[in-house]
Amino acid sequence: MSDEALEILATETRLFPPSREFANQANAKKELYEQAQNNPLEFWDEQADRLQWDTRWQQTLDWSDAPVSKWFVGGKLNVAVNCVDRHVENGNGDRIAFYFEGEPGDSETITYQQLKDRVCQAANGLTQLGIKSGDRVAIYMPMIPQAVIAMLACARIGATHSVVFGGFSAEALRSRIEDANATHVITSDGGFRKGSAFALKSAVDEAVKDLAFVQKVLVVKRTAQEVSWDAKRDVWWDEVVDTQSTAHNPEFFDAEHPLFILYTSGTTGKPKGILHTTGGYLTQVSYTHNVVFDIKPATDIYWCTADVGWITGHSYVAYGPTSNGATQVIYEGTPDTPHKARWWEIVEKYGVTILYTAPTAIRTFMKWGDEFPAAHNLSSLRLLGSVGESINPEAWIWYRETIGAGKCPIVDTWWQTETGGIMISPLPGVTDCKPGSAMRPLPGISAEILNESGEVLSHNGHAGYLSLTKPWPGMLRGIWGDMERFRENYWSKFEGKYFAGDGAKWDTDGAIWLLGRVDDVMNVSGHRISTTEVESALVSHPMVAEAAVVGANDEMTGQGIVAFVILRAGSVDGPDVAKTLRDHVAKEIGAIAKPRQIMIVPELPKTRSGKIMRRLLRDVAENRTLGDVTTLADSAVMNLISAGLSATTTED
Ligand code: WTA
Repeated sequence: MSDEALEILATETRLFPPSREFANQANAKKELYEQAQNNPLEFWDEQADRLQWDTRWQQTLDWSDAPVSKWFVGGKLNVAVNCVDRHVENGNGDRIAFYFEGEPGDSETITYQQLKDRVCQAANGLTQLGIKSGDRVAIYMPMIPQAVIAMLACARIGATHSVVFGGFSAEALRSRIEDANATHVITSDGGFRKGSAFALKSAVDEAVKDLAFVQKVLVVKRTAQEVSWDAKRDVWWDEVVDTQSTAHNPEFFDAEHPLFILYTSGTTGKPKGILHTTGGYLTQVSYTHNVVFDIKPATDIYWCTADVGWITGHSYVAYGPTSNGATQVIYEGTPDTPHKARWWEIVEKYGVTILYTAPTAIRTFMKWGDEFPAAHNLSSLRLLGSVGESINPEAWIWYRETIGAGKCPIVDTWWQTETGGIMISPLPGVTDCKPGSAMRPLPGISAEILNESGEVLSHNGHAGYLSLTKPWPGMLRGIWGDMERFRENYWSKFEGKYFAGDGAKWDTDGAIWLLGRVDDVMNVSGHRISTTEVESALVSHPMVAEAAVVGANDEMTGQGIVAFVILRAGSVDGPDVAKTLRDHVAKEIGAIAKPRQIMIVPELPKTRSGKIMRRLLRDVAENRTLGDVTTLADSAVMNLISAGLSATTTED
């Protein structure tokens, strides 16, 4: 690391003001803050006017049924028309929408005209399969163009998609299909990852075998691997979609028509189906993509590395960039296949100008060494982004220096599946950046940090709870099938204010620092996983009597999953036990939820009322001296646990 970098880290509060050059050409203007503050509804009207509406709205916001909001009431639009057709109509049909890079090295270029044709064909195909407006469609795909095409086609015909990350297990897929009552599943035979083909269709077969309400499974051929086939249920994409007409007359839907459900982990074992609608969501992702990424659609090559299985892939691959007519890169595989410079090779190959990724990836690249990015010409980059967890100042500086050649602004963007779009971030060209801080709420967004009793904390460095205090267009409209949980989870802690579940503080400069989750949700490589979910998976194994799971600090992944497990009488600890249990969790949830470490223990620390004291377990998992143990029902338990550890710890 350079002397300058070390000095920056030492001072920690060093600000990076925007360069004049960047500021002069920036999409965002300083006045936005004031404008949004003074006339919030007018401000959002203006953002909504960036879209193409079939019928204009009569009312910007209806908050009378709070906490369920209605935005752009009475307005009608078609999301796919906004993301695809209008660019063709505006004479940009030849602009590249996607540069697709497959992991094995195949690639494909898709213009907006071609995207329109393919979305229309898919819309016709889905209609032929019996999918109608309002139906739920599960999408379980690798990161290939058809994944985005399927999403846009659902949007086009008013069907509500529920994308399930391809790394989730058959069991996790099944519960999501069931919860949403999805009548159709779109999948592929598999995809490429780490140099070989993995299967997806077989997981779908397993997931839907008892679900009689699933009518059709539409399968994209990606790897040409063998798949088993149910002739009554399964159909090939190339037979049903690729043969359709490219003409499709779009219908226009109400601004509050459901666009998608996306499941995310909460504090109980059951994932929450976060519901988003069309007009407000698209307004917000389009606006934020424009000002936060400073997108210049005619010249920028934008690359967001997120999978469409996560909210980042929804808002900043499928919808935000396409609504702005941007050209983007999508890449199917892992960063180290076939070599550790794959990403930098892609940046050079396509001349990527804007890169949006996660701190866990940045830290991994730091570990691999500077020679990989150094071997490629990255001079096309002009803006860098980060999302998923706080970026530690060391990684921030490395990202800026080694990837951004010391010249690119970095937008550290805080937001959630629930918020739909970016909420807190610097505005490049306008606001200063500070390594490790997400800086301040975007124009139009109101955030406060509250203490336990709901008092507002000022710019004094005191940690509290992050809360969003005014409705915003992209906000979730509810939890699918469980509006009570929606109210309880987000709106009950602080009257009338949205509780984000994150700790935060303002520093004395008025910059926000995000301090991690305050609930039982872990953040592993930027993915939300609930401790309860992993615990339920563990106790569903016949060997396990009881389990407690904590997120422990992890240099690479942010947090790592550490499980404390009590075996049932008759089950003995042995060399294979930890492996068996880790594999079991992968089967129940997916490989991303595999515990980093499983500790077989004789007892768990509990309060007298029987609540597991995770705080103490976290101390153990992070090798710290134990905190206060006086509330433990049996204070000898911790000695037992600590004593037994060295013998039973398993890690790989
Ligand atoms: C965390 C991802 C700090 C946070 C878009 C939040 C962050 C959760 C940041 C949402 C950031 C996301 N700084 N923490 N820039 N971005 N988080 O729903 O804990 O997958 O509540 O949405 O990720 O995760 P989700």
